[in-house]
Amino acid sequence: MFKYLRRVAAATLLVTVGVSPTATAAVTPGDGLALTPPMGFNNWNSTHCGAEFTEAMVKGIADIFVAKGLKDAGYQYVNLDDCWALPHRDSSGNLVPDPIRFPNGIKAVADYVHAQGLKFGIYTSAGTKTCNTAGFPGGLGHEQQDANLFASFGVDYLKYDNCNNQGVDAKLRYGAMRDALRNTGRPIVFSLCEWGQNKPWQWASDVGHLWRTTGDISDNYAKMLSIAKQNWVLAPFAGPGHWNDPDMLEVGNGGMTATEYRSHFSLWSMMSAPLLIGTDLRKATPATFEMLSNREVIAIDQDPLGIQATVSRTTNGLNVLVKPLQNGEKAVLLFNEGETPNQITTSATEIGLPRSPAYRLRDLWTHTDTHTANTISATLPPHASAMFRVSTDRHWATYPPAMDAGATIATVYPGALPIVTPGTTTSVITTVTNNGRLPAIGVDTTLTAPNGWTAQPQSSTSAIVLRTDQSLSTQWTITVPPGLTPGKYAFTGAATLRPNVTLPYTLDVVIPGAPPLAPAYLSDLKWLRSTNGFGPVELDHSNGESKPGDGHTMTIHGVTYPKGLGTHAPSVVEFYTAGHCTTVTADVGIDDEKAGAGTATFEIWSDGTKVADSGLMTTKKPAQPLQGNITGATLLRLITTDGGDGNNSDHTDWANAHITCTN
Ligand code: GLA
Repeated sequence: MFKYLRRVAAATLLVTVGVSPTATAAVTPGDGLALTPPMGFNNWNSTHCGAEFTEAMVKGIADIFVAKGLKDAGYQYVNLDDCWALPHRDSSGNLVPDPIRFPNGIKAVADYVHAQGLKFGIYTSAGTKTCNTAGFPGGLGHEQQDANLFASFGVDYLKYDNCNNQGVDAKLRYGAMRDALRNTGRPIVFSLCEWGQNKPWQWASDVGHLWRTTGDISDNYAKMLSIAKQNWVLAPFAGPGHWNDPDMLEVGNGGMTATEYRSHFSLWSMMSAPLLIGTDLRKATPATFEMLSNREVIAIDQDPLGIQATVSRTTNGLNVLVKPLQNGEKAVLLFNEGETPNQITTSATEIGLPRSPAYRLRDLWTHTDTHTANTISATLPPHASAMFRVSTDRHWATYPPAMDAGATIATVYPGALPIVTPGTTTSVITTVTNNGRLPAIGVDTTLTAPNGWTAQPQSSTSAIVLRTDQSLSTQWTITVPPGLTPGKYAFTGAATLRPNVTLPYTLDVVIPGAPPLAPAYLSDLKWLRSTNGFGPVELDHSNGESKPGDGHTMTIHGVTYPKGLGTHAPSVVEFYTAGHCTTVTADVGIDDEKAGAGTATFEIWSDGTKVADSGLMTTKKPAQPLQGNITGATLLRLITTDGGDGNNSDHTDWANAHITCTN
């Protein structure tokens, strides 16, 4: 938390890269709080200000932390978010707990949480009011009174938001609360939540123990991904007592697949992010508990060295993140952010381990060990990741060779959906590679096509032996039957080797709907896929951020538009055009409904090429006509980015979006 610490952490990093684990001891930062990223629970992502946010819920979570072993796994803080208080202070100027949600007050809840051996956290804003419209008075100008009240409740953690800040300088606002908390004499972890607006990583290491680096997360893959990418470039600023905070976990809330939640949890752990569970554990499935309780992954997040992973490779959405660990081992994450299966590769020496005949690869999700001669690779489905702890180990030969097996297909651009056309033939490649030092014996590969399709190998499907770095690659000719219903179709297969090893893989391909054959508004067509910052993409309306149909008439700089697509950055809307279309036009801009804050860029992509870019649009700019030449394109993408400042209020309208196509 104090400035000198950053220098200590940096020196530690240098020493550790030289692999001298003992030299990393004796870092005693700041006030000794949050020496590892805070772990716990916060209600916001599951309840917002809904009626379920009550004393009963908070107590229930504390009970579950104990009963289900989450406390033992390291989860400690049980934190309240917005809407715990009434909209007005009492006659002495104190905040008043909402008597319906918290009939026994806040101290009673804090006492209950403490009695379970846990810690208790609370929330307010560094402004005149908190963020929710039904919220309560904020701490601006009331710092000491509110800090004293929190200390009297027994608060151990304060999240301090940024809404209604009246334009007062962030350093002053957050510094005032830091001092007020210190004056209480109670150790309180201080979490700055100003969404990265004032680059707190540059100045807040002696203000708070963690700072939000981005706008709010929401329970969808695109948002999680964009936040991860904003946060992972900030690695040099994190360390014991001062962490980057990419927002709370969405694991278990239902808006992402199990594969995506696994990537979310893995990324957050690699990034030394706070692990604040954001799902109502009283309703959580066994799979959610299993994921959140994965101690091998948690250990990466909580590694005492406290170095945030850096990205060592990132090409076409294929990412490698590396995190040095206190004992000299490295954690590595291979993460495929795109829409098609792909192989991701690095090596033990590339991630900084010393030369060795072989290395132990501990898979932190399957909890199994293999050995590698050096290469670390995995062929991963879309949005999936593989996470390993890599070490030199003289017993490496007791583990089987690390094998990488998978099926891939060519795509229109790197990371595109693997589309295939009914009534045609195409190719799928299966590959199995031995990354181990010892040979793999008796290797066979299979590929089973969907019902009614055929898959014919064009070369051998078996190898008597695969030595280090040798692959068995087989091309399969696929016949795609005519007249298929649009949707996903799954290939399955496996590589097998002696004795008794099976490495299954899948490949999902996509049959698109018919392309447009005449000019049309894009909002009258069916898209192939869409991702959106908040809520769904809206037809002929702006984006209302949550439910379908919750937007308004599109309005840019006072001009209204009856047709168009209402997106929220970061967004992608992709259409299958199959070479039938030539031009896309739209009037693009930030919708008037978000006065002031939004900034974004609008892009049109023809297959893998950007053919139009609006430059930075703000709420002050009138709609800009954008036109893209998409002649010959198989896939058209409309993309919005957050303009580089997080995606708060980025209501991005593609007004009048229109496409010219022929038969
Ligand atoms: C802001 C914060 C969120 C949450 C809400 C509560 O949006 O960034 O994490 O605390 O306020 O209203």
